[in-house]
Amino acid sequence: QEAKPLAGRRVLVTSGPTHEPIDPVRYIANRSSGRQGHAIATAAAQAGAAVTLVSGPVSLPDPTGVDVVHVETAREMLSAVEAALPADIAIFAAAVADWRPEVEAAAKKIKKDGSGPAPLALAENPDILATIAKRSEGRPSLVVGFAAETDSVLDHARAKIARKGCDLIVANDVSAEGGVMGGAENTVHLISRDGSVESWPRAAKEEVARRLVARFAELAEG
Ligand code: C5P
Repeated sequence: QEAKPLAGRRVLVTSGPTHEPIDPVRYIANRSSGRQGHAIATAAAQAGAAVTLVSGPVSLPDPTGVDVVHVETAREMLSAVEAALPADIAIFAAAVADWRPEVEAAAKKIKKDGSGPAPLALAENPDILATIAKRSEGRPSLVVGFAAETDSVLDHARAKIARKGCDLIVANDVSAEGGVMGGAENTVHLISRDGSVESWPRAAKEEVARRLVARFAELAEG
């Protein structure tokens, strides 16, 4: 008999990158395979939760037993997240593009006209995690952020938890040496609001997801 620690709970997960179109063929994005976020959605469903996964463009299949909402841009992701609430636990694993082209995407492909590249003005995207974590009403009881860092992983994560207003940060080292980006395994550090850090051994992303979900279930209880 499988344990169902999240039976009766609603869980929201964001995963994958966002794409911010410049024209029909070009976009700005962060690197993200969606593997860790999708694995968390799968593990939460297996733990008995009703799961909504808001996913940016990825090449992964939709996890079974999960309600999947497909989006492209950060602004679409924020709308889909708001539409999926309320939730007991919200996990923001997506690699959201921080900036988007300031002007709306051109309807036609921008041509090279020989005069060199046109400057690309950028506008800041909404911070989805901070928007939800700082809600005064309808805030999920557990809000989890991710931090993909290449250096000073723990220092950056500690600063981030305060700035974003979330309860927990899952930090991973995505420097080239780590092989985490797009890879099958992950090494994570859990940083709590009091600044304490727990470092977990490297494991398959599916295994990391199961352990994370078990921990989230405990934290949401307390
Ligand atoms: O600030 P940074 O992008 O490093 O923060 C990462 C965390 O914030 C992740 O949990 C990510 O999903 C979330 N985030 C977000 N919306 C943004 C930027 C980041 O939800 N626009």
